[in-house]
Amino acid sequence: MLKNKHILIGVTGGIAAYKMPLVVREFKKAGADVKVVMSESAKEFVTPLTLSTLSGNEIVVGTFPDQNTNVLSASTWHIKLSQWADVMLIAPATAHTIAKLATGYADNAVTTLALAIRCQLVIVPTMDVDMWHHPATQENVVKLREMGCVIVPPETGELASGLTGEGRLPDVPIIVNTVKGVLRNAHRDLQGKKIVVTAGPTYEPIDPVRFIGNRSSGKMGFAIANAAAQRGSDVILVTGRVSLPTPRHVKRVDIESAAQMHRAVMKYSKNADAIIMAAAVADFTPAKPSHTKIKKERVHSTSFSLELTRTRDILLDLSEKKYHGILIGFALETENGIRNAQQKLGEKKLDFIVLNNPLQNGAGFGSDTNIVTIISKRGKIEKLKKMSKFDIANELLDRVAKNF
Ligand code: CTP
Repeated sequence: MLKNKHILIGVTGGIAAYKMPLVVREFKKAGADVKVVMSESAKEFVTPLTLSTLSGNEIVVGTFPDQNTNVLSASTWHIKLSQWADVMLIAPATAHTIAKLATGYADNAVTTLALAIRCQLVIVPTMDVDMWHHPATQENVVKLREMGCVIVPPETGELASGLTGEGRLPDVPIIVNTVKGVLRNAHRDLQGKKIVVTAGPTYEPIDPVRFIGNRSSGKMGFAIANAAAQRGSDVILVTGRVSLPTPRHVKRVDIESAAQMHRAVMKYSKNADAIIMAAAVADFTPAKPSHTKIKKERVHSTSFSLELTRTRDILLDLSEKKYHGILIGFALETENGIRNAQQKLGEKKLDFIVLNNPLQNGAGFGSDTNIVTIISKRGKIEKLKKMSKFDIANELLDRVAKNF
């Protein structure tokens, strides 16, 4: 898996940097080509000479390397390296580095390169326990995950400060195996395919101020869009209102209501090779939304009822219009999951349906993980273990790729 792979390693200034020569050696032993980029402060913990000797390559330290030394001295070194890399690993990633990565700073060689790369970024946060648990660090980590970075969580144990807790650099095999896993998924097997993904909730207007919505965070659909783009496909992400950053190389179309989502999906379905409906589309919408704000004084009663009508089912309309690509739906069920999902699969003539139960621990709205069962039209039922939404996205795309 690692043979002849191009691995870029960014080392930043944490005490765990002294362990990075072992990581470099492990990748080299497995046949990978390794290039290391360091921040100035990383030099306080490990020497460029050690890393250059073990990697067998020159090291970049600083954004403006010495003009006279070597190939990487050109001012576009970051672009050259970004095009060279199959994967980039930042380890150790200090709290400061994580904050900068989450905000898009490019103030040293490592952060500059992290912005320029097109490949997957694996980040290994390593710091003292209180810095790790600080809400700012946690928020930055969530943001990076949502951008599609792979985070290897720090290990618990004795820390350089003498405190005990989370913050240690994980053992070398854990880091190496994560990079292997990322490379396994990094094949561009969806190149040339056009995939439409929907995500998030729909908002059904009651009046200009109020709406009927649902708790969907959009994370599952965004993870699918992100993974599909990383595997080379042209992705159109039709999304309801969510607060998530748009994944790289994805065309995003913002909508609010089920009717708007219907129009957008129909428009982009023409020549789409697959449509993945991860959005939580409202089944009912107010029959006569008011153009002006409904005042409670105008409702001459202690109760108020709202007439709702059915929305048009997007998946059903696609199958009735003889859509020829691969069609995937989601089923959110709290009871009789398999039976209900199979029924939806049949009624909507889907190729696959992804079943999940929001009441299960580690599944459902807002969570970074999910527990799903993928059911195919051929009757295959595959229960996947709890995993990140990004990993589930890749599992689903593996099955889609086999059906093209
Ligand atoms: N869906 C759709 N168009 C709608 C509603 C839902 O395409 N108007 C899609 C969803 O995106 C999802 C699947 O259909 O992929 C879910 O099916 P649905 O029958 O709507 O499930 P629930 O909303 O959970 O409905 P129920 O209350 O019947 O279980």
